[in-house]
Amino acid sequence: MSEITKRYPGTLALNKVDARLEEGEILSLLGENGAGKTTLMKILYGMEKPDAGEIFIHGEKVAFNNPNDAIARGICMVHQHFMLVPAFTVVENVIAGIEPRKGVFIDRRAAESKVAALVEKYRFNIDPHAKVESLSVGEQQRVEILKALYRDAKILILDEPSAVLTPYEVDELFITLRFLREQGTSIVIITHKLKETMNVADRVMVLRNGVLIHDDVKPADTNPQELSEMMVGRLIQLEARHPSPRIGGVKFSVKNLTVKDERGCEKVKDVSFDIREGEILGIAGIEGNGQCELIEALTGLTTPESGEVLLDGKPLCGTARDFIDRGVGHVPEDRTHMGLIAPMTIKCNMILGYQDCPDMSRHKLMRWKEIATYAETCREEFGVKTPTVEAPVSSLSGGNQQKVIIARVLSREHEALIVAHPTRGIDVGAQEYIHNELYKFRDKGKAMLLISADLDEVVKLSDRLLVIYEGRIVADCAPEEFSKVQLGLLMTGNSLESVKEVGA
Ligand SMILES: Nc1ncnc2c1ncn2[C@@H]1O[C@H](COP(=O)(O)OP(=O)(O)OP(=O)(O)O)[C@@H](O)[C@H]1O
Ligand SMILES: [Mg+2]
Repeated sequence: MSEITKRYPGTLALNKVDARLEEGEILSLLGENGAGKTTLMKILYGMEKPDAGEIFIHGEKVAFNNPNDAIARGICMVHQHFMLVPAFTVVENVIAGIEPRKGVFIDRRAAESKVAALVEKYRFNIDPHAKVESLSVGEQQRVEILKALYRDAKILILDEPSAVLTPYEVDELFITLRFLREQGTSIVIITHKLKETMNVADRVMVLRNGVLIHDDVKPADTNPQELSEMMVGRLIQLEARHPSPRIGGVKFSVKNLTVKDERGCEKVKDVSFDIREGEILGIAGIEGNGQCELIEALTGLTTPESGEVLLDGKPLCGTARDFIDRGVGHVPEDRTHMGLIAPMTIKCNMILGYQDCPDMSRHKLMRWKEIATYAETCREEFGVKTPTVEAPVSSLSGGNQQKVIIARVLSREHEALIVAHPTRGIDVGAQEYIHNELYKFRDKGKAMLLISADLDEVVKLSDRLLVIYEGRIVADCAPEEFSKVQLGLLMTGNSLESVKEVGA
C-alpha cells in the first residue's frame, strides 16, 4: 500500500501511509485507539475507499470497489464482531454467498467435502454440521477463519482476534496462524495485547495518529514496555497490582441467585457472594457460562427465578431504572448491542440511562446546554478521540466507543458498579487510565463486580476472585492464589482438586 490517505469529516485518519506485507509473514499492526489501524485494513479489504494512494499485489496495481473484489484477489478480513448466522451450520456459514451449484441447486456434497477437508487439514476440531449458535467464541472464530480459507485467502486480516478469547483459545489460534504462515499465507493481526504480539508476529508496524511511525520492528529486539512507548509516546505501567487499601463491611450481596435465559434454561445456578466496601470482586470465566445472565439480574434487566440481591442490606428489585436510581452502574459486555445507540450522537450516548436525572433534564425537558458541557468534560477526561461530541457515536473507532461507555458510568456517582470487560479493545495508554479510575471508585469504599475474559486484567484488578463454570461458582480465591494456567483449567471445568495437583 503506497501513500494511503483517508480523510473523514474533521479527522485525517490516514496520512500517506506506506505499508508492505511479505509472503508467509505475520505482521502485527499496533497503534492507539483511533490511530487508523482498522481504516487501513478496511481499505485493503475494499470496504473503504482511500482518498489517495495505491495498492499493489505482486507489483500489479489493483483497485477494489467492495470486499468481493478483494476476496477475488485472495484478501479476507475477520472482523472483531463475527458476522456469522447463528441458526446456520458451520458449512452453511462458510459457503454463504459462494455456494457451489449443480444446476439451480446448491451442491451440498461438494461444499461439505471441501469444508471437511479444510477442517481436517487445519486440525480445527469443529463439527461442520454443528449450528454456529452452539459453538464457543473460539470455535466461532475458527469458522470465520474457515470462511477465509474456503475462499482461498492469500492475505488474512484479523482485527483484534484475541479480545474475546481465553488464554488457551489464543494459543490455539496462534498455532493455526503459524500453520497458515508455513503454507505461504500472509497475515495481518491487529491487537492491543502486546505480549501476544511478541509471541506471534514476525514484524511489527506502528501507527500513531494516522502516520506510520515504525514499520520494521522485530519482536526479538524489543519488549512490551518499549512497544507501548512507541504507540503512545510515553512510559506505561503495564502490570502493577494495586490491592485495596481498606476493605470494610458487606456492601453488595447476592443470595442463592438462580437466573433463567429467555428459553427457560437455568444459566445461573444458586449463586451467592458478598462484595465488601472498597473491594473489587472479579469473576473469571469463559463467555457463555452464565456471566451474561448474572449481569442482567444484577442490573435489573431481568428478574431472577429465585434468590435475592441486596445493596447496603436492602433488597434491590424492580426495573433497570430502579437499579440506576439506587446507584448501581453498569458497563455492559457488548458495546455495540447493549452499550451504545450507534446513530445517536456521542453527546447523547454519554448520558444514556441518566437522561432523567435532575442535572440532565427538568420536567421532561432536556437541559441541552448542561449536557453539552458535561459531554465535553467527559470527552476531555477520558480522551475520546473525535472532532466533536455532536458526531454519531458510530464514527468513533472501536476503542473510543468503549471510552464513551466508561466515561458515562465513571463520571457519575454510584454505590456499586457491575462492570464487564471494561477495557476490551482499549489501547494500553487508555487502559492504564481506566484502571486507575476503577481503583479510585473502589477506594471511595464502594463495591465493584468485574467480569472479564481477560485473565491478566481480572487478576490485576481484583481483590478477590471467583471462577464461574456452567452457572456455578467453582472457586473463590485470592487473585494470585492460582497461576493463569490453573485458572484457565478451572474456567474449562476441571475440578479444584485436580487443578491444585497441577500446581503442586
Ligand atoms: N465512518 C467514519 N466517520 C468518521 N470518522 C471515522 C469513521 N471511521 C473512522 N473514523 C475516524 O478515523 C480514525 C481512525 O479510526 P480507526 O477505526 O481506523 O482506528 P483504530 O486504529 O482501528 O482504533 P481502535 O484501536 O480504537 O479500534 C478515528 O479518529 C475515527 O474516529
Ligand atoms: Mg479498530
